[in-house]
Amino acid sequence: MNSPFDINDLKRIINKTVVGNDIVYFDKTISTNIDAVRLADNGAADGTVVIADEQTGGKGRFDRTWISPACKNILMSIILRPEINISRMFYLTMIASIAVARAIEINFKIKPEIKWPNDVYVNGEKVSGILTEINTEKNRLNYAVVGIGLNVNAHPEIEDLFFARAVSIASIIGEETSRTEITASILIEMDSLYRDLNAGNFDSVKNDWVKRSMVIGKQVRIIDADRTYEGKAVNIDEEGRLILMLKNGSHEVISSGDVSLKFT
Ligand code: BTN
Repeated sequence: MNSPFDINDLKRIINKTVVGNDIVYFDKTISTNIDAVRLADNGAADGTVVIADEQTGGKGRFDRTWISPACKNILMSIILRPEINISRMFYLTMIASIAVARAIEINFKIKPEIKWPNDVYVNGEKVSGILTEINTEKNRLNYAVVGIGLNVNAHPEIEDLFFARAVSIASIIGEETSRTEITASILIEMDSLYRDLNAGNFDSVKNDWVKRSMVIGKQVRIIDADRTYEGKAVNIDEEGRLILMLKNGSHEVISSGDVSLKFT
């Protein structure tokens, strides 16, 4: 399965939604997030999707790189212009991780879990990562670019403190599979979740996310830029920050960092 993405097929399946109303395709680019930011700056519509078969400088969180061989995986970025307060910005990442988890579940009958803040895991291995970048003006959200990398037919052999091991759908189900249907499912689910957000239905989104979380209720270690926290992840707050109960019973609210599950 090394053929380029069939964008017309994808367009046929998703038919008119907000997310995916316009799809821009590149066979090779530096990063779809960079392309999406450029397009958004030039006025691209809410819901525009950028898809590439190959990235030469795929971006991960904390300046890491996202590695993916050509024509194997899903590499896409979605431009969103939501009507939500900037304090709810994390919900954009949440809906993307829920959409990826739902799409995997629908297409492959696999039950993925979401690792705070924005990774999708299957059986303790990372199958997808999300990188959200925002553009703000006077404390108002202009637009967000939500970049999704999903290992469908290949995964890098990395194992480190942060990523744990990577995995692909193909290695789980035992065969390579088409990227079109799963991309369509992600966009369809994302569209419906995005409508929820714009309608102010934050609770239903948060509940779905918590239901799929591999972190809530567990003992975790969180490595932030300059600190390490250990405790029990008890919930996420209204802004999507992780609430941790420390050993001494006090609570710490954490807005970014990498989580490792401490005792598993
Ligand atoms: C992470 O887990 O660190 C986030 C990885 C996000 C990767 C995707 S691939 C498509 C989009 N374009 C990029 O350059 N990055 C995101």
